[in-house]
Amino acid sequence: MVAQILDGALVASKLNTETAARCADLTARGVRPGLAAVLVGDNPASRTYVSSKAKTCTRLGLYSEVVTLPAETTTAELLALVATLNTRTDIHGILVQMPLPAQIDAQVVIRAIDPEKDVDGFHPVNVGRLALRQEGFVPCTPAGVLALLDHYDLPLRGQRAVVLGRSTIVGLPLSLLLLHRDATVTICHSRTTDLAAVARSADILIAAIGRTAFVTETFIRPGAVVIDVGINQVTTQADVQAYFGDDPARLADLEKKGYTLIGDVHPRQAAEVAGYMTPVPGGIGPLTIAMLMRNTVLAAERACR
Ligand code: GUN
Repeated sequence: MVAQILDGALVASKLNTETAARCADLTARGVRPGLAAVLVGDNPASRTYVSSKAKTCTRLGLYSEVVTLPAETTTAELLALVATLNTRTDIHGILVQMPLPAQIDAQVVIRAIDPEKDVDGFHPVNVGRLALRQEGFVPCTPAGVLALLDHYDLPLRGQRAVVLGRSTIVGLPLSLLLLHRDATVTICHSRTTDLAAVARSADILIAAIGRTAFVTETFIRPGAVVIDVGINQVTTQADVQAYFGDDPARLADLEKKGYTLIGDVHPRQAAEVAGYMTPVPGGIGPLTIAMLMRNTVLAAERACR
């Protein structure tokens, strides 16, 4: 079997077109949706994520503000910034990029964000609303996974979904979303025994554990839908060969940047067993940003109703 590729970049582009139209409507009514992204310190991956979020804002017509703070910033200083952003009427969404430096209490910062501007869906109020199926903000990566499955008309009701990873950003909220859509959901984690066997029971297998090519062919039921949320780096030619074979694009990527991206799923092995799979890059990544844009426009729509 050669798995069908689920093209996240394509679905993100379609969603972004809809979001840009809603943004234009609001702007014409005098309310331009605005997102403030806060970056503390100089984690290179975080910097890249924030920059691509800001660029997408601009491309879709949203107002974007990036606030960069030094690595030594204290919790109190970050709380002061959040308090200001909470009161600003031109800012509808606030995103504090994670992870934060160790001296900052991330939970205190998240709790300080106005839940109506919490476009990441990380505030306990929004986590509670999600659990109770109430209106709030759904975290962007889980929302992106659902949007992709829906675009390809892949059914969820009655299906066995296995989620690898229980993070508060992905695994836990995604499990709730799948449950709300009547899937039978199993969450696996570092203490799960015989993880490969549990994974193999899945009609829909979601990998969100942050471990390079962890999901190999023995984890995948033939024909299953495999969604790869991982974003890891491969930095040696031997590894590129092991994971991607003689793919010249990957070798060129390695030469140009010093790394190439890989998910939590072994790409060649999955392609031989799965029925459908997401690529990395070009799978869930673009959808996460698309959902952030949509949540920000939604926040602005709610602010003026
Ligand atoms: N770090 C990794 N993913 C995310 C995300 O979706 N939002 C924020 N704020 N930080 C992250």
